Amino acid sequence: MKRYFYFVGVLLLSLGSVATAQTPVYLDDTKPVEERIEDALSRMTLEEKVALCHAQSKFSSPGVPRLGLPENWMTDGPHGIRAEVAWDEWEQAGWTNDSCMAFPALTCLAASWNPEMALLYGRSIGEEARYRNKNVLLGPGVNIYRTPLNGRNFEYMGEDPYLASEMVVPYVEGVQSNGVAACVKHFALNNQEYDRYAVDVEVSDRALYELYLPAFQAAVQRGKAWAIMGAYNRYKGQHCCHNQYLLNDILRGEWGFDGVVISDWGGVHNTVESAYNGLDMEFGTGTDGLGVSASDAYNHYFLAQPFLDLLKKGEIPESVLDGKVRNILRLMYRTTMNRNRPFGSFKNPAHALAARQIAQEGIVLLQNRDNVLPIPLDKTKKILVVGENAIKMMTVGGGSSSLKAWYEVSPLDGLRARVGDAAEVVYARGYVGNTDGSYNGVVSKVDLSESRSAEELLAEAVGLARESDYVIFVGGLNKNSQQDCEGGDRIAYGLPYNQDRVIEALAAANPRTVVVLISGNSVAMPWADRVPAIVEGWYCGSEAGNALASVLVGDVNPSGKLPFTIGKRLEDYHAHALNDPLVYPGVDHKQVYRDDIFVGYRWSDLQKDSEPLFCFGHGLSYTTFEYGKVLLDRKQMTAADTLRVRLTVKNTGNRAGAEVVQLYVSDLKSALPRPLKELKGFRKVMLQPGESREVEFLLDRTSLSYFDDAKHEWVAEPGRFEVLVGASSGDIRSKAGFELK
Ligand code: BGC
Repeated sequence: MKRYFYFVGVLLLSLGSVATAQTPVYLDDTKPVEERIEDALSRMTLEEKVALCHAQSKFSSPGVPRLGLPENWMTDGPHGIRAEVAWDEWEQAGWTNDSCMAFPALTCLAASWNPEMALLYGRSIGEEARYRNKNVLLGPGVNIYRTPLNGRNFEYMGEDPYLASEMVVPYVEGVQSNGVAACVKHFALNNQEYDRYAVDVEVSDRALYELYLPAFQAAVQRGKAWAIMGAYNRYKGQHCCHNQYLLNDILRGEWGFDGVVISDWGGVHNTVESAYNGLDMEFGTGTDGLGVSASDAYNHYFLAQPFLDLLKKGEIPESVLDGKVRNILRLMYRTTMNRNRPFGSFKNPAHALAARQIAQEGIVLLQNRDNVLPIPLDKTKKILVVGENAIKMMTVGGGSSSLKAWYEVSPLDGLRARVGDAAEVVYARGYVGNTDGSYNGVVSKVDLSESRSAEELLAEAVGLARESDYVIFVGGLNKNSQQDCEGGDRIAYGLPYNQDRVIEALAAANPRTVVVLISGNSVAMPWADRVPAIVEGWYCGSEAGNALASVLVGDVNPSGKLPFTIGKRLEDYHAHALNDPLVYPGVDHKQVYRDDIFVGYRWSDLQKDSEPLFCFGHGLSYTTFEYGKVLLDRKQMTAADTLRVRLTVKNTGNRAGAEVVQLYVSDLKSALPRPLKELKGFRKVMLQPGESREVEFLLDRTSLSYFDDAKHEWVAEPGRFEVLVGASSGDIRSKAGFELK
């Protein structure tokens, strides 16, 4: 018997070593990835390779079952992990275990001006994606805030390329630390929803390189993003999902991207262009991408049978296909084929905490006359909360980023929970907006039906306002169509549903009326002078109400700063000031960005006779900060030097608080017109009462350069420059000059 076991043992051992000796290179973890890719590629049939290049279901593409290469599974992105949908339908699959943690919208993250929050965000959402077995997260979005009418601004990181770049890099790194690819979207020039499938954007190279590309470039080169999503719109006549200029010349050629290019869903329109112009994977809705689904639709995709046919006929060489397959295999080796990646986790307490922390750091205190905030609970008996957005679920709407959230604490519930018995919190609806707001079959759990008339609702709110110590109006936009929502732009800059009238009436009835805007965009605020306090509360996801309450009562000292300019009127934005339909929203599928590089504060800085309502970078605190003098370590520098900028910031109030110290550079004289100033550095510093801290920035030629169209290169032009440091783009506290030799 003993002998028998001995023989079996020897047999198993030798079989084991045979297995090891025969482990094919593509499955051998000890071999370099590029070698494994080549080995896998050499084993695949033409059909297997083509299959990798297109979807097999709404969110998945096949692997190579014969070789044990797994499927790829995508998920929206970018604020939480989307609910499972049916295999070939947009309807939800009806799972009971797919309700996720909803993180704040990316505008809120950008408003934190804290790269550590971006890392925390990326890591947490990456963990959720990993747990749900997705290897590609369809986010983050970094299209530039060009117009406040863009329905998807809430999914992006604001108007400034430097801020968006600094925030996108840690987000990508955080996601990918889970072995999940971040798919940065929508590349590029998808800065509006109007006519998004067709509009052909004409833009100068200068604006393209200075404004619209930097965040993508940072995500690719510094963040090492493994995936990028082509945009729906066109550029130079070609759809961005198969675009020679954007994908071949810039993304792969200039930036050296070695990841995978994924189409937006239904953004592909042509097999030959898709073959040659940089696309790797086609995803979509129906056979022609944008149409309705048909059975076996996936086989009709541009990169499916039609591609295979051209390959078989020799009209497209197999090397073109191999290039795509290498990129797709690289994605797989970085994600599903990495046996060491962590397992992820889903809606755990750490993610709730992360969501809350990010929200708390992103909420912006826009105005606070007479320190009406925070609400002193010891002196407050009755707080009236008014407005639909105090109770409406925002996670359910907005388009592809809509979420089946595990929970969403509304502003009203958050405030009630925090205030407890300290004061009475009463609620009045005030107005009725769009009571639905669900999308993609994610259903709101809140019943918003209301039978009373607008007059009755207003009268009730005003009556209660008179007898309350504080009125907190929670309104703004919502995620219904033509508000902050995919698929359409906003139709007006003003607040919808007659909210202005309600705010005016409340302000007249109670001097302590605080307006909280829930939105991902700026809005007109004709009542700004008549209310003491205004808060930008964003779409904050699961922990929205808790985060907002902690700011309103002062548990948290607000430290968010605007990632975009809030103009008084729509015409304060350059794309609208030009009053030319070709500039916005485009005519006959054609659009010309005549606003060029003068977008956001780069434009408003030049307006002598009008100022924004709230500047880019603006945000107040419950404490005050004093800025010392800016000190430079040299008065002259060459393009090879680094300039050291230092200054001291002091908390001069009696609460701990964080200040975002912003550094702008001004080129005093240049061959090409330049903005008055451009953001080139920022630091968020936490200071105890009375504490001071030295803040340091390093500038080099990249901070001084502009993009010269004619030379197609960045130019740091010798001459005088100024460093401006301040609390916002409109609140510069100290400057110093130097010369570039
Ligand atoms: C959106 C993308 C999204 C995709 C998948 C498209 O309509 O533009 O952002 O990732 O759908 O849902």
